[in-house]
Amino acid sequence: MTDVATAIASLSSRLKEETHAQHERMHRLMERGQPFSSRAAYASFVAAQYVFQRDIEHLFADPAVRAAVPDLDSRGRQQASRDDLTDLAAPVPQEAIASAQVSMPAALGWLYVSEGSTLGAAFLFKEAQAKLGLSADFGARNLAAYPEGRAVVWRRFVAYLDSDTITPDMHDAVVAGANAAYDRFGDLLQRHFHLG
Ligand code: HEM
Repeated sequence: MTDVATAIASLSSRLKEETHAQHERMHRLMERGQPFSSRAAYASFVAAQYVFQRDIEHLFADPAVRAAVPDLDSRGRQQASRDDLTDLAAPVPQEAIASAQVSMPAALGWLYVSEGSTLGAAFLFKEAQAKLGLSADFGARNLAAYPEGRAVVWRRFVAYLDSDTITPDMHDAVVAGANAAYDRFGDLLQRHFHLG
């Protein structure tokens, strides 16, 4: 038996399915950028990460975003990526905040992209350690797991996405926000890796 509630796909599954091509694009850009070929190449990735994390943490001040994701203070990697740039003796990029006009529900899509990227970061973290000799205390703080662990913090975020407070009429805007955030990160990778 199918009722209206079960016929609606969960927001988290919609996000995963409808942004799949964008995630694939991130893989391709990382492949082209070769961030683990040298510390200098890796610093270009961290610069993109820092600018993106600034966009993300700009959203943390919005009370509506805080209500939707109550544990925001344990999220975000702006300071970590800034500290990594210092470790790497790389300049801190100055760019305008791209999320200045973003509010709920689209903001949740931006957070989805940032939080999801902590999962893939597990692989990147291993490479940063093995190939570049970096660590959670030097150069690769931005890729390290949150103190509670990646899976726990991610599952809690998914529970917020799929809670009743995010009503079905908001879902399209969240997916659009995720696409905009992926577009932004893709643009940053392209520019900081100097890809044509
Ligand atoms: C080469 C680099 C990357 C690799 C190898 C990678 C790998 C992965 C893997 C294996 C997962 C699934 C983990 C799981 O289900 O337990 C994942 C999830 C995810 N990644 Fe990546 N990723 C990369 C880059 C990125 C980037 C740059 C972003 C965004 C800025 C990103 C955003 C996401 C999101 C949003 C999810 C969650 C998907 C979902 O379950 O809804 N990833 N990644």
